[in-house]
Amino acid sequence: MSQRQILVTSALPYANGHIHIGHLVEYIQTDIFVRFQKLRGHNCRYFCADDTHGTAIMIRAKAEGRSEEHLIAEMSGAHQRDFAAFGIEFDHYGSTNSASNRAVCDSIWASLRKQNLIVERSVERLFDPEAGTFLADRFVKGTCPKCQSPEQYGDSCEKCNATYAPTDLIDARSTLSGATPEPRMSQQLFVQIEQLHEFLTSWTQAGGHLQDEVANYLKGHFLGEPLRDWDVSRPAPYFGFEIPDAPGNYWYVWFDAPIGYIASCHDWCQASGEDSATWWPRGPEAEQAPCEIRHFIGKDIIYFHTLFWPAMLKASGFKLPDQVHIHGFLTVDGEKMSKSRGTFVQAATYAKHLDPSYLRYFYASKLGGRVDDIDLNLDEFKAKVDSDLVGKVVNLASRTAKMAKASGLAASYPDDGGLFAAAAAQAETIAAAYEATNYAEAMRRIMALADRANEYVETAAPWSLKKDPARADELQAVCTVALNLFRQLVVFLTPVLPRLADQAGALLGNPITTWNQAQQPLIGTEVAAFKHLMQRVDEKKVQAMIDESKDAAAETAEAVDANSASTSPELDAEPLAAECSFDDFSKVDLRVAEIVSAEHVEGADKLLCLKLSLGGSVTKQVFAGIKSAYAPEDLVGRHVVCVANLAPRKMKFGMSEGMVIAAGPGKKDIFLLSPDAGAKPGQRVH
Ligand code: 2FM
Ligand code: ZN
Repeated sequence: MSQRQILVTSALPYANGHIHIGHLVEYIQTDIFVRFQKLRGHNCRYFCADDTHGTAIMIRAKAEGRSEEHLIAEMSGAHQRDFAAFGIEFDHYGSTNSASNRAVCDSIWASLRKQNLIVERSVERLFDPEAGTFLADRFVKGTCPKCQSPEQYGDSCEKCNATYAPTDLIDARSTLSGATPEPRMSQQLFVQIEQLHEFLTSWTQAGGHLQDEVANYLKGHFLGEPLRDWDVSRPAPYFGFEIPDAPGNYWYVWFDAPIGYIASCHDWCQASGEDSATWWPRGPEAEQAPCEIRHFIGKDIIYFHTLFWPAMLKASGFKLPDQVHIHGFLTVDGEKMSKSRGTFVQAATYAKHLDPSYLRYFYASKLGGRVDDIDLNLDEFKAKVDSDLVGKVVNLASRTAKMAKASGLAASYPDDGGLFAAAAAQAETIAAAYEATNYAEAMRRIMALADRANEYVETAAPWSLKKDPARADELQAVCTVALNLFRQLVVFLTPVLPRLADQAGALLGNPITTWNQAQQPLIGTEVAAFKHLMQRVDEKKVQAMIDESKDAAAETAEAVDANSASTSPELDAEPLAAECSFDDFSKVDLRVAEIVSAEHVEGADKLLCLKLSLGGSVTKQVFAGIKSAYAPEDLVGRHVVCVANLAPRKMKFGMSEGMVIAAGPGKKDIFLLSPDAGAKPGQRVH
């Protein structure tokens, strides 16, 4: 098998949000692919970066009173820590706000100009008079001009799939401030990708670059009509790169984001003395170069990666991707991840409570290489991890390693009835499943082998042999077989469970470094002292993770409720809540309350625990996200307005029986709504 050179990327995460278990589907999927290729001996490299530009970052940095650079540096650190906790190993992790990215942007832009693909037009854009900025499409919502569905984003309708300009929306409003946006003229630059229509049709429809379902979707949705010009510039103010030949205009974040793939590759080449021309070739020979480029992305960003991106690469002569691999979304217990249900779990929260290996395995067992969504059913999660990983794989070692410690592995491999050889013969079939990103199939085959290995141990019953010193040789033989079958399974699982592979290597004094180690049994080596490899999933920890996610969401909700500016990412804007009828609103019982005590809450960054008096003997305990702005001692005796009839909610720290009303941009500026001087606790506020 000749060595392949493979460049792999995952989508660059936005710098304005933390990594959550939904994102991890993709990074785990990609990391498994890369580890598999490396284990097979290929020259495979995994590049990623933070996606740092755009309105969302600019607005958030402003709201937080710091520079964009400060914000993105902090988020990059947090992202990389989260990835490391899940064993996601990049060869290089860069930033789109880098000199190398600017250089590649300049160069690709020059090519687009040279090919006469750029046109300038005066366009009407929506401007938010309150936020003082032009609005990205996803920051505008309104009624679809085609099918009249309410609450649709400014670029496309989720109900009828129509695409349109945000100015076409009926009753548009800004999701940043709620203000009605004003149309204003702005001079903008467009890429005429229609000129590349023929190329895009052939690239997407032939050559196996995309899954069939994606190719068909593009054909049915976009390629059957002229491709719309791509509006690639944004007027100041904008956090990004200013366009060199159009001062006052910036590249739209989606222009420089994918270019970050190339820049990250260039950074790595620079640092490791490699030639970037061989990793991401450019020029007439680029398509014939002996290297592969593979992107992994989610289905929400298909358009950017299968039309704009190939168009940019083609026009600038860079090698096109060999494959853009698309996965679906994550649901939890059959529903969208939800903050209020506690299923919107951040990577760091997960890792605090549960072993990341569980999630790597669970996702692997669900990822079949298609675009379907995958579901994390928490009962199934526990059942699968307990039964497959702990019950079938780890169990082989935990039942025999201690008994084999004294003797070590036998000097020659005993007769195992052909089990090792049969599993070794499956190596290429399992490898083909990994190669096709059909990890579910690979896991099924590996677990079927594990079943056979366990049957062997059951029948051979080493625990009985151990009781009879005269049968020590038989015991050694059985343990040698069991531990070799264990190690063989672990070799097959190494892309998914790298930590288990390290542990197995240490146990048997032979690190797992290549796929071919599954072909030869180990003999005559020592067996180290057995250390626990993996525990069953503790349901209490799963619950603790969900509870903490609920509490964190409640804390953020309070902080965000108190925020005048949204912190939503550009393509994932948090919509305003559904309309609340007057009747609904009149159910809210607002009362004057006196703060009788205020205390820090151990383990909570943002919350204070307030005891409120509502007059007479009525008191309520409320957890309020106002710690950044108030010291407890300044609050005692103060009158505030509280929602007195809010249903009590169990938080990790205790019951919260109401809510105090506050507003402001956050941090030091959270202002409690104060009733009129002279108002009495318990008095209704109208
Ligand atoms: O959808 C997102 O989260 C984007 N930040 C992905 C960018 S991928 C690439 F184009 F950079
Ligand atoms: Zn519609």
